[in-house]
Amino acid sequence: MSLPASTPELARGLKGVVLDTTETSFIDGEAGKLLYRGYNIHDLAERSTFEEVIYLLLYGRLPRRQELAELDEALRESRALPPEVIDVIRLVQRAHPMDVLRTAVSALAAFDPDTDDNSEEATLRKAIRLTAQVPTIVAAHHRIRTGQAPVAPNPELNHAANFLYMLHGHTPTEEAARALDVDFILHAEHGTNASAFAARVTVSTGADLHAAIVSAIGTLKGPMHGGAAEAVMRMVQEIGDPERVEEYVQHALAEGRRIMGMGHRVYKVEDPRARHMRERARVLGEKMGQPKWYRILERIAEVTSPLRARGISLNVDFYAGAVYYLLGIPEDLFIPMFAIGRMPGWCAQVLEQMRNNILIRPLLHYVGPMDLEYIPLEERG
Ligand code: COA
Repeated sequence: MSLPASTPELARGLKGVVLDTTETSFIDGEAGKLLYRGYNIHDLAERSTFEEVIYLLLYGRLPRRQELAELDEALRESRALPPEVIDVIRLVQRAHPMDVLRTAVSALAAFDPDTDDNSEEATLRKAIRLTAQVPTIVAAHHRIRTGQAPVAPNPELNHAANFLYMLHGHTPTEEAARALDVDFILHAEHGTNASAFAARVTVSTGADLHAAIVSAIGTLKGPMHGGAAEAVMRMVQEIGDPERVEEYVQHALAEGRRIMGMGHRVYKVEDPRARHMRERARVLGEKMGQPKWYRILERIAEVTSPLRARGISLNVDFYAGAVYYLLGIPEDLFIPMFAIGRMPGWCAQVLEQMRNNILIRPLLHYVGPMDLEYIPLEERG
């Protein structure tokens, strides 16, 4: 038996591999800097809205007043789901919300008038429709699985407020709606992370936007990508008291466990998005008479400070879980929240890939046996 002779240099996990050029976002992991289309995430989180960020990511520039109004109207008009898709959600209601979301987006491909049209204009129309429909799927599924009727979208409310309205059946407070609006802005785009990469690979074969978003949702589900906010909140509840943080963290690290909401493939200093979620978690916690969760998180941040020297710092999900919890969002909807926010980024990256497409197809280095003799089944015993 002969083995392949030389081993080429491997890029396992594609760590450090620069795949292509992009105009969508800029990330400097050493400086903790994030720009969407050239605009600093801090300005967008403090001064913009999710609708404006959708426009910015899809069209490459900030909208004029009329352009924003038109996009906003298109989003509000596209929120409702075909009744057949509600039926599909009913059929699969017992599955994890991410599996339901993936299935429902896949089902929407059967009803979208532009599914197979990969032109830029049609892909933009689909991007707007899907961005509007994804929150409706998440909210309708939660209503159905808890034995309640889905709530029809409210065209008077913006994207974030309408999601909370469809989930809970009542209009949220201004603070709650703005906290979610900021969360969506912060999650809107982040380079070729695993899910955006999956979306790019999918359209690189000539497949359409619905197929790409299905790939992206499937990829986001894993705990190393979208699942961290849920894991952080579970950890915070398990700790239960700021006094118990030190013991918990020392014990976890001694056992070689990871502290969720920390560390990042790209950021080696604090993720620039974390500070905005920190502030929202603090303000919401105080307003809602539940400051304990924020205090526990701050204590975890203090106790884990020695990890910073190794480049393991707080990421966006460290505080996001507490914000979702305070907004009354169930834990297994935390990853779908990420998906709702990431929709414009996935769509922008798909459009970018389509404009200058090349099939994404890396190689594997084979290390298995070679030239084995085939023995017929009857002779194998
Ligand atoms: N807590 C404790 N140690 C951590 C850590 C964490 N959250 N994240 C990374 N490390 C340690 C690893 O144990 C490893 O240590 P070692 O070299 O002694 O084995 C080292 O840091 C490098 O980790 P590695 O997994 O190779 O780095 P990566 O760049 O591939 O990891 C993540 C990035 C996100 C997968 C990783 O930091 C992680 O699992 N974080 C927790 C989950 C999370 O919050 N994900 C959301 C990302 S937005």
